[in-house]
Amino acid sequence: MDNANVTRRDFIYVASAAAAGVGLAASLWPFIDQMNPAADTLALKEVEFDLTPVIPGQIVTIEWQKKPVFIRRRTPEEVKAAEDAPLGDLIDPQADKDRVQKPEWLILVATCTHLGCVPSKEMKGEFGGWLCPCHGSHYDTSGRIRKGPAPKNLEVPPYQFLSDTKVLIGAAPKAGAAAEHHG
Ligand code: FES
Repeated sequence: MDNANVTRRDFIYVASAAAAGVGLAASLWPFIDQMNPAADTLALKEVEFDLTPVIPGQIVTIEWQKKPVFIRRRTPEEVKAAEDAPLGDLIDPQADKDRVQKPEWLILVATCTHLGCVPSKEMKGEFGGWLCPCHGSHYDTSGRIRKGPAPKNLEVPPYQFLSDTKVLIGAAPKAGAAAEHHG
């Protein structure tokens, strides 16, 4: 299976960029060929993403600071599985509530903490999250490493909800954002 092609096809380039100080050039950036060296100078500090089209169970990939970022709209079952996982079972123990601002939305840097491959969205692995096809790391529905060679959970980038349907990746979370989490 050619994962590179699958990933490229599913990549969403975000046209509405909230880039501090980059101005007009930022809105052109998503269309600039990746091989163009000029693109290197236009890395966005912050990327705004409209969550409206993302349906429950769907994972989309956006690009932020030249890194792929997963935005996953979790189903109630996926949220429950993430919340119910005993911390003692975790390789890199972290509660789900400390990894999300709203339980429905899981936002992660899509870089395997083993050697940096992009985990597969199509293969969810043994814990329902992601499987990294390179060497078989299994992540759960909170993006926590559960099995395989990766030492750490998938990283949560800084982000801030601008509204119920808009998120700004790269912005520091609002104070108390985690408190929106129920339970
Ligand atoms: Fe993901 Fe090795 S890079 S398991």
